[in-house]
Amino acid sequence: MDSSDNKSKAANFIQRVEAAREFLLSRLPVTPEVVLILGTGLGGVAELVEEAVVLPYAEIPYFPRSTVPSHAGNLVCGRLAGRPVAVLQGRFHYYEGYSTRELTMPLRVLSRLGAGMLLTTGCAGGLNPGYAPGTLMLLRDHLNLIPDNPLRGSNNDEWGERFPDLSSAYDPELRRLARQCATGLGIDRLREGVYVAVPGPSLETPAETRYLRQCGADAVGMSVVPEVIVARHAGLRVLGLAVVANVNDPDNQQPILLDEIIRETEACAKQVQELVLALLQRL
Ligand code: HPA
Repeated sequence: MDSSDNKSKAANFIQRVEAAREFLLSRLPVTPEVVLILGTGLGGVAELVEEAVVLPYAEIPYFPRSTVPSHAGNLVCGRLAGRPVAVLQGRFHYYEGYSTRELTMPLRVLSRLGAGMLLTTGCAGGLNPGYAPGTLMLLRDHLNLIPDNPLRGSNNDEWGERFPDLSSAYDPELRRLARQCATGLGIDRLREGVYVAVPGPSLETPAETRYLRQCGADAVGMSVVPEVIVARHAGLRVLGLAVVANVNDPDNQQPILLDEIIRETEACAKQVQELVLALLQRL
């Protein structure tokens, strides 16, 4: 691909982001301050949004379409704990066939509307042997093993810098606040760890599980990281929370079953909701 192809692809993407932004400007009563991304089994938070404007992704110009049944596919805007929020109820994944630039397009649009914070949630497989199904992991750092980066290609300097710094991608102050909120709520299964993003959709072999652990990861999943990269590029503060749905032991690897992942994540959804609400109240 020559650089003019690259430039025209970038121009096309900018034009689509702007069209979606203008559509949302005409539909949303308030500018969202916080973007919440709800992963598998965690979509219920969206039902708590007050004065909600619910826009199916299919109605928003150029938004990708969710292809995963466990992801609802709505943008829900309104107030949560009194704060103007935009909830992405259902996310997009690299394994669905999207490039990471495409799958982060909704977040880019919301950042262009003026949101200043991203709170991202998702489920993950535990690699740290000290974790158990139901552990909640605050993301302290990540490894990106998805063979793509949402910032690849021409950079739009108005959106962010060419080489964004990720030395402290997960806001230490927000993590401290989250730990305080968890303590206040009596949630004792909160840990902090490193999340590794893999492309999926196949789950890990025992050898891959061993490798990821040796690389320093505490939990593995197929999302989160592309969105965090875009959020940091756009200057948003980031908090990441993963529900550890299963724990993978390479020396005794058990089948990892989607139904069980969803069941375990749903069992934690109420605590995740409480934590998210407490956090929004304290911001
Ligand atoms: N691996 C990858 N992604 C996951 C897992 C897992 O074990 N559990 C939930 N999401």
